[in-house]
Amino acid sequence: MSSVKKAVFPVAGLGTRMLPATKVLPKEMLPVVDKPILQYALEEAKAAGIEEFVFVTGRGKSILEDHFDRAYELFDTLERKQKTEALAELESWLPTAGTVVYTRQQQPLGLGHAVWCARHLIGNEPFVVSLVDDLILGDVPCTGELIQAHEQTGGNVVATMEVPLEHTSRYGILDPGKVEGRLVEAKAMVEKPEPEAAPSRYAVIGRYVLLPEIFDHLERQERGAGGEIQLTDAMARMLGAHPFHGYVFSGERHDCGDKLGYLEAIVAAASRRADLKAGLGDVLRRYV
Ligand code: UTP
Repeated sequence: MSSVKKAVFPVAGLGTRMLPATKVLPKEMLPVVDKPILQYALEEAKAAGIEEFVFVTGRGKSILEDHFDRAYELFDTLERKQKTEALAELESWLPTAGTVVYTRQQQPLGLGHAVWCARHLIGNEPFVVSLVDDLILGDVPCTGELIQAHEQTGGNVVATMEVPLEHTSRYGILDPGKVEGRLVEAKAMVEKPEPEAAPSRYAVIGRYVLLPEIFDHLERQERGAGGEIQLTDAMARMLGAHPFHGYVFSGERHDCGDKLGYLEAIVAAASRRADLKAGLGDVLRRYV
């Protein structure tokens, strides 16, 4: 049984890098093959033993709630037409009543602020933060790997992966201490360093297990890079006070917040599907 029961999904961002698709449709609802991006993260959390799912939404995001609701007319029609397979598929991931909670971030003041908006729903226990744009495919759920690492260390754990040196300026980068297998002790975190200043190639990816003390730091509402309340700044203040590690997760990550990353996610997800793999190869050969 997992010791971490709650996960926060901050989904209040504007998704400007994916415009014009995201002018009306929330980025999190863009499909990767035939599932919206956010469903992958929810299923990953569920597979890791998470029981309560907290979505921090914003204006124009109400269709996210509809997606996790029972669509009466659709379910009824499928039943009447005896489309049992389609019906069973829809039933299989529909969250149990009362396990999904929505709160709103009234202004997009930054990721740290979005997480802070969930403080009363989380209370005084460790919790997962999952950035749904980071689609992680793999046989073992990344969230589950982080929870196990948290159970081992008792502290904060962030998902990490080694990136090419020329890409360090796109990520938060860990300054590593002791490295034991997949567990990387974090001495410090440097936000988007140029390659020559990067303390390592361990980039922080959008899955975290955080101690509730993070809320004390977020409470100060201090503005960081871009004038936003940054989660990274609050995490950095916890270094030294609590164990802090990166965990080199085993899956592969695709950045759906970016156009090329989104295309890559679709190809990667389709290539894992027995019903699509062969056809996908033909399509790619024809166009690329
Ligand atoms: P991003 O940096 O990807 O920002 O946020 P964004 O607004 O979603 O996308 P771009 O950069 O404009 O294209 C990372 C995560 O933090 C959430 C986003 O929804 C995304 O999941 N976020 C960000 C919030 O919930 N609130 C914020 O104020 C900022």
